[in-house]
Amino acid sequence: MSTPATRVLTGITTSGTPHLGNYAGAIRPAIQASTEPGVDAFFFLADYHALIKCDDPARIARSRLEIAATWVAAGLDTERTTFYRQSDVPEIPELCWMLSCVTAKGLMNRAHAYKASVDVNTAKGVEPDDGVTMGLFSYPVLMAADILMFNAHRVPVGRDQIQHLEMARDIAQRFNHLYGRGEDLFVLPEVQIDEAVATLPGLDGRKMSKSYDNTIPLFEGGSKALKSAVARIVTDSRLPGEPKDAEGSHLFTLYQAFATHEQSADFRAALEGGLGWGEAKQALCEQIEAQIGPMRDRYADLVAHPERIEDILRDGAAKARRIAIPMMARLREAVGLRMVSKTAAAGSAGTSGAARAGRARMVSFRDEDGRFRQRLFAADGTELLLSEPFGDPKVLNALGRSFAARDLSDLVPGSDGHVELAADGLCWARVPADRLDAVREALAQV
Ligand code: TRP
Repeated sequence: MSTPATRVLTGITTSGTPHLGNYAGAIRPAIQASTEPGVDAFFFLADYHALIKCDDPARIARSRLEIAATWVAAGLDTERTTFYRQSDVPEIPELCWMLSCVTAKGLMNRAHAYKASVDVNTAKGVEPDDGVTMGLFSYPVLMAADILMFNAHRVPVGRDQIQHLEMARDIAQRFNHLYGRGEDLFVLPEVQIDEAVATLPGLDGRKMSKSYDNTIPLFEGGSKALKSAVARIVTDSRLPGEPKDAEGSHLFTLYQAFATHEQSADFRAALEGGLGWGEAKQALCEQIEAQIGPMRDRYADLVAHPERIEDILRDGAAKARRIAIPMMARLREAVGLRMVSKTAAAGSAGTSGAARAGRARMVSFRDEDGRFRQRLFAADGTELLLSEPFGDPKVLNALGRSFAARDLSDLVPGSDGHVELAADGLCWARVPADRLDAVREALAQV
């Protein structure tokens, strides 16, 4: 078997419109990393987090659309990765509550974002907690839930998020200690700060940021808006023909972010040889446009068809929930909210407790229509099959059990690529033929 994939996860708060700095500093490297072999990437729209900062519903909705369209237009492969909206996964707030119950208030008191609000209030001479919501105060717990739910190994974030990652590890450790019974329910996530990824300077040379009002738009406003922003880049007053200090100019830094080494070297030589700033700006525009231009049409098309984005996000959420649902089932058992289900208990006989991470399991349950069904999960928590509904749980259990003892290699897929697991004229479940090996392996364990 190949080595297990590294799960890389990051969230994007949906309270703004992406600019060129977001693209070069976060979106482009994240998409690039998601194509590396051995990486299982999870990217999500942190819209519950956006609610903490923004109480304008129209802006929340608009920002979600723009950010999702940006990632897709920029080349994110939504088949290969798991791209979803936080609020489409109700298991996340549920986990957030469980984590809240083990998180020390004192730990949250120390969070930088909260402390900054308190400092501002103190300086103003108002109540320390003036304007502080429980959402802001508990922000790191929700973020921990985002990460721990999917047992992410690596979390690429900006420097301002390092403390949140430390808190997520603290919370995970405490939960593992309290409820793991010797096994780790949660992976301890590692923060990933990419030093190689330059933060892009803005028009005035400071870090490109909405709060400095120095951004270059990514797609909004088309190539015209790009041109007019580039025209406003601050340069020194050297005239055409005078040698320029390429290294000291943020125009050159911007150029480098969109050029090969060779192109950058040529551009540097031209600047040092006296290229005028006007021409340099035109060259920068063309360089950015070459990369961004083709994406802009895709972006416009997606923004004009929000239903396509909705479809993508819905598919992504279904994929995410294939992990989140069994994870929550396991956690509910671990904390004592649910009894260990019978079939699952039988599977765990002889192992060390409620967690049973690393074992396949079968769960029986009653569906919304009151009928009985089974789900089969692989050792990594992936749902492998959902059985047909049965009125009589005994019939279902016997049928399910019978497949554990059967060799499935003789089964022939139908024209739709599915194999029917049937016995005595009763169909237990239908599964895609390419999943049969995984089903066989899991059945051997339950
Ligand atoms: N707090 C992050 C930010 O502002 C966004 C975020 C929310 C996030 N949940 C996350 C990042 C989980 C990484 C993992 O940038």
